[in-house]
Amino acid sequence: MAQVLMTGDRPSGKLHLGHYVGSLQNRVALQQQYESYIMIADVQALTDNFENPGLVEKSVYEIAAGYLSVGIDPSVATIYLQSQIPETTELTLYFMNLVTLSRLERNPTVKTELAQKNMEESIPVGFLCYPINQAADITILQAEVIPVGEDQIPMIEQTNEIVRKFNRLYGEGTLKECKVHLGKTGRLPGIDGKGKASKSLGNAIFLSDAPSEVREKVWDMFTDPNHVKISDPGQVEGNVVFTYLDAFHDDKDELTHLKQQYRKGGLGDVTIKTLLVKDLEQLLEPIRAKRATLTQEILRDVLRDGSQKARAKAQQTMKLVRNAMGLNYF
Ligand code: TRP
Repeated sequence: MAQVLMTGDRPSGKLHLGHYVGSLQNRVALQQQYESYIMIADVQALTDNFENPGLVEKSVYEIAAGYLSVGIDPSVATIYLQSQIPETTELTLYFMNLVTLSRLERNPTVKTELAQKNMEESIPVGFLCYPINQAADITILQAEVIPVGEDQIPMIEQTNEIVRKFNRLYGEGTLKECKVHLGKTGRLPGIDGKGKASKSLGNAIFLSDAPSEVREKVWDMFTDPNHVKISDPGQVEGNVVFTYLDAFHDDKDELTHLKQQYRKGGLGDVTIKTLLVKDLEQLLEPIRAKRATLTQEILRDVLRDGSQKARAKAQQTMKLVRNAMGLNYF
């Protein structure tokens, strides 16, 4: 039987090119090869948006539309909602016994997020515990392949620690360990070149951006501030246009040549930006076209069917879990 692939995103905004190269592309490529589950993590999104449930609800449809428009096929991969699998909450609670507070506080991804969101002074328990909940998301489907970005590696490590402890205490082989499957391209920087592309930093190109917005953002991209005249030698490293061309320009030989020319002098920013706009349009145009065919009703049906299917699988795992833990009284 095919191994289970599972991954997901928090619905707290729109999908952008960073998501695309970090994991969406990878999921489309892998969906046929594995039994695939793609989860919209609405419960996790509430851990840092609990005061704004409206944003989470709206973003659920946004993310679902994004999935379908990049080519995740709901007849192949199961797209579902985290909140519709209440069994995950139960498993999270059992897992909580297996994790210490100091271990949670050491999770580097959580640490970074707490700092970014100014939550260090008074940390909500729900937020601190989301890695435990994420471990439950993964293991409740017996998933072994997790296509995510680099920032999620600590979550997978923590999941496997929990699995090993659970199996040692309650029965070897009950739950499965999992592995990260990183995308071909690493993290995509924002158009300003400061850190990664992110919605909250306002430096991302969204999959739903109109051609004029894409062009404007490419035109605003950080290049080499010392490359003033076309004839000046320019720097390729840290030049966001080249980083994006690395990710989106298929003809690698041509790209090597362009980099040489840019370094030497004689290649202008307008030329490389024009090329990038063309590459991005080639990618985004079919995504926009597919998106235009989707209705709220179609999306709701996909989510309902997917959630039913994922829940049935989660219930099977919970039988094993309750048996292993001696909770199968009747
Ligand atoms: N933490 C992920 C994010 O921030 C979302 C997520 C929740 C997830 N549960 C998961 C990803 C399980 C992979 C597997 O985007």
